[in-house]
Amino acid sequence: MTASFPNVRPRRLRATPAIRRLVAETTVAPRQLVLPMFVRDKVSEPVPIASMPGVVQHTVDSLRAAADEAVRAGVGGVMLFGVPDEADKDPAGTVASEPDGILNRGLAALRADLGDATVIMADTCLDEFTSHGHCGVLTDSGEVDNDATVERYCAMALAQAEAGAHMLGPSGMMDGQIGAIRSALDGAGRADVSLLAYTAKYSSAFYGPFREAVGSSLEGDRRTYQQDAANRREARRELELDLAEGADLVMVKPAMSYLDVLADVAAASPVPVAAYQISGEYAMITAAAQNGWIDRDAAIVESITAIRRAGADVVLTYWATEFAQRFA
Ligand code: PBG
Repeated sequence: MTASFPNVRPRRLRATPAIRRLVAETTVAPRQLVLPMFVRDKVSEPVPIASMPGVVQHTVDSLRAAADEAVRAGVGGVMLFGVPDEADKDPAGTVASEPDGILNRGLAALRADLGDATVIMADTCLDEFTSHGHCGVLTDSGEVDNDATVERYCAMALAQAEAGAHMLGPSGMMDGQIGAIRSALDGAGRADVSLLAYTAKYSSAFYGPFREAVGSSLEGDRRTYQQDAANRREARRELELDLAEGADLVMVKPAMSYLDVLADVAAASPVPVAAYQISGEYAMITAAAQNGWIDRDAAIVESITAIRRAGADVVLTYWATEFAQRFA
């Protein structure tokens, strides 16, 4: 006979905070969190991002201070995005691969300050730097040109490695990008630089606030290169490709609307799995909390715990430092 009520009462293990803590299946440690950060060219003060209250576009100096704070809090890494001056954008995103471009200057400053004390990651994508806002270069007819874009990513990757990034995050969803960047790095004697592949990156309405965060020039959408929200099986295909091309870690993004995909990838992946709690996820919780409609602290803890529970080894979240300081 199987044990059942009234002998079995699951509520006994929920009775006190101490019992709940003892039997909690999922933990979130600061070392598992990565802080995404924005560094903007030609500003003398940090610029607030209206749709992401509490997140700013940093100056190089404020970036250094915030990264230092994150590292002291025990955060596992930082992921840097660059915001160039509008006048420096062009169709090829040229400034992305220039050593004195804002992203590369930010990386160099962080590496000089922090050395190997944390993992310094770079967004390897063109959308912040292109005048049209797409993640790649365009053909004459205005399509995103996969192979020409991958060449630009390789140039960008070499510049980021040179600037001091430990790990690159190619986020543009071009076919073959991981393999091409791996070869370019290896060919330049940079086999030491690792790749965090944006393996299953979905075309998402929840990126909205990020577009403000990076001053994106995009009109239209990214549906010809990012995945369709309807597709689950396709993530397995992208995983196989990224593994074959040499990904060191793989990522699912966004997190909260794609926890099933995350669980699939976590079950199948032989390499560590990351998930990105994106700008819209941050904005929704923040806005609801500001209206008094939701308990901010509890929602932060629950959302990040859920991403870990679904299988993420690493979570990119704009709350990384705060979580490490207040909840870990
Ligand atoms: C594009 C990129 C995006 C994000 C990270 N890299 C946005 C997009 O694909 O439009 C989103 C991050 C976030 O929303 O927090 N290279």
